[in-house]
Amino acid sequence: MALVTTKDMFRKALDGGYAVGAFNINNMEIVQAITDAAVAEKSPVILQVGTISMNYLRPAYTVKLVEAAAEDAGIDFAFHLDHGEDFETCRKCVDMGFTSVMIDGSKLPFEENIEMTRRVCEYAHARGVVVEAELGKLAGVEDSVNVDARSATFTDPDQAAEFVERTGVDSLAVAIGTSHGAYKFKGEPYLDFQRLQEIHKRIPDTPLVLHGASSVLPQYIEQCNAYGGTIPAATGVPESMIKEAAGYGICKVNVDTDIKLAMTAAVRKQIAEDTASFDPRKYMGAGRDLITEMIRHKMQAMLGSGGRA
Ligand code: 13P
Repeated sequence: MALVTTKDMFRKALDGGYAVGAFNINNMEIVQAITDAAVAEKSPVILQVGTISMNYLRPAYTVKLVEAAAEDAGIDFAFHLDHGEDFETCRKCVDMGFTSVMIDGSKLPFEENIEMTRRVCEYAHARGVVVEAELGKLAGVEDSVNVDARSATFTDPDQAAEFVERTGVDSLAVAIGTSHGAYKFKGEPYLDFQRLQEIHKRIPDTPLVLHGASSVLPQYIEQCNAYGGTIPAATGVPESMIKEAAGYGICKVNVDTDIKLAMTAAVRKQIAEDTASFDPRKYMGAGRDLITEMIRHKMQAMLGSGGRA
């Protein structure tokens, strides 16, 4: 089976009012857990990797691992670069076999973001690869991205329309109140749905992307802490909000934190309860199983992507 672009996936998601999960990979068990879930749910899926995770995994292993997953799982999925920092990073990933790249110029002034995105689009499109860009700036911390709450800005709907028109970008990540990492909201969760609807109205054919979309499931934090963790309480994006967002053009929902939490919760429990064991297959396997269960739940109950592959 093959690595495909997100073009068809997003077209169907836009028409069907559901979203496709884009799950970050950091090791082999996570790759397997995501593809196992997609196979079980017959769901479209995107495997994505940021540059720091790719360096941890090592670039050659990353590509081979993802190719092996497509072959072994017998499904088509997209392979995406998350938060490419510059043209050169995106170019390398296009050349390595990614089917989709994100150029994150959100920290740049508007005109410079347009210029860099346009350049990446030119290179990627000529080689059959699709491009995601970001307009507005999400708060939070994730690998190479670190934006404090004061410098975060929401996406302007008029600028979004101009940006898509002038860059030819395939999908657009918008800032409407989510943030990267576990600590997303000080009080009650809030997303600016009115802004999202305005953006969707201006560019109805452009698939929109929601970064920072982990629900930060409390049961995983509790499990980590019950087995020696000291993770402070945190609030993620409620599943109901993700569902609502999918009705307003959000086609791609990014999840990284929930995967890390599930893996840590399972590994901590397994090691604590089976103290005589020193077999990595046991605790890494427990992590893999819990991630599969969590992603299956998201595909069925939150994204609405189950049965759409
Ligand atoms: P979370 O930190 O909410 O999982 O977001 C991940 C993300 O947006 C990857 O780009």
